[in-house]
Amino acid sequence: GPVAVIAGGLSHERDVSLASGRNLVRELRGLGVEAHAYDFDRNLLHTLEHDKVVAALPALHGQFGEDGEIQTLLELIGMPYVGSRSRACRVAYDKGTARELLRRDGIPVPDSVGLSAQTFRDIGAAALMEFVMQRLGTRVVVKPSRGGSTLGVAGVDGLAALPSALVGTYAYCEDALVERFHVGVDVSVVVLETADGLRSLEPVAIEFEKGHEFDFSARYTAEFVSLTRPDLPQEQIERLGDVARQAHRTLGLRDVSRSDFIVSADGSFVVLETAITPGTTETSVFPFACGLSGTSLGEVARDLLARAIE
Ligand code: DAL
Repeated sequence: GPVAVIAGGLSHERDVSLASGRNLVRELRGLGVEAHAYDFDRNLLHTLEHDKVVAALPALHGQFGEDGEIQTLLELIGMPYVGSRSRACRVAYDKGTARELLRRDGIPVPDSVGLSAQTFRDIGAAALMEFVMQRLGTRVVVKPSRGGSTLGVAGVDGLAALPSALVGTYAYCEDALVERFHVGVDVSVVVLETADGLRSLEPVAIEFEKGHEFDFSARYTAEFVSLTRPDLPQEQIERLGDVARQAHRTLGLRDVSRSDFIVSADGSFVVLETAITPGTTETSVFPFACGLSGTSLGEVARDLLARAIE
């Protein structure tokens, strides 16, 4: 029977997910796999059963996709699927919670404070700026605790801009994280579960055109984003792979994850987050990492689907 790539959905990352899904379907079909795209709508479960789908590959990003919702529904109908279980998603999708777990396991994460919209209203802008300055300094990044693709993320250099940055973030999520800004290179490492155990793919460095660092449309525009193999010593590359595999295990994830690092010039690093359903668009890290590692997105997806059905 066919396999279902579930893409679209209701989150702010709907368009990204549709692009992720198209790429997956195209790659799978290129290998002769009968793959179809399905949107996440009220008919989904019925349609999957009606079409005699044998396994699902959720390519839904953000809310309902990475927070355990779609996973719960698939579990409800006993549909084999690729990716992390609903229970792990619920924990790992919240950046604050995930960071706390990573920190406890000795993985370096940025210093950050969680600030709900309610707390912001209660304590007011002046007290808030004072608090953040004492805890984190004056150069910070504000981001939604739940969400992706840099939506609602803002860099703040000088705390006068903090309150308005937070208001922008609260449009996406009522819980914000304010974290210390780390200077360095963005490097991401994809982790896969294979018959031989956990495998980390080659790291990928992500560079944005200046001024577009936190820019959603730049992230998905080929002229504004460049993906490369990072120029790091082999020892450091192996270390990042080790840490990405550790993060995958710490968060109880399954099949695939992508840990995003900032690597500083002195070789130190922090993990910003571990993504549960990494993007698979044409400008995403995951397909590029597959290419660097001697495989392809299609082969990886096919193998994960085969493992799900086993
Ligand atoms: N949230 C986007 C899709 C990513 O992690 O690639």
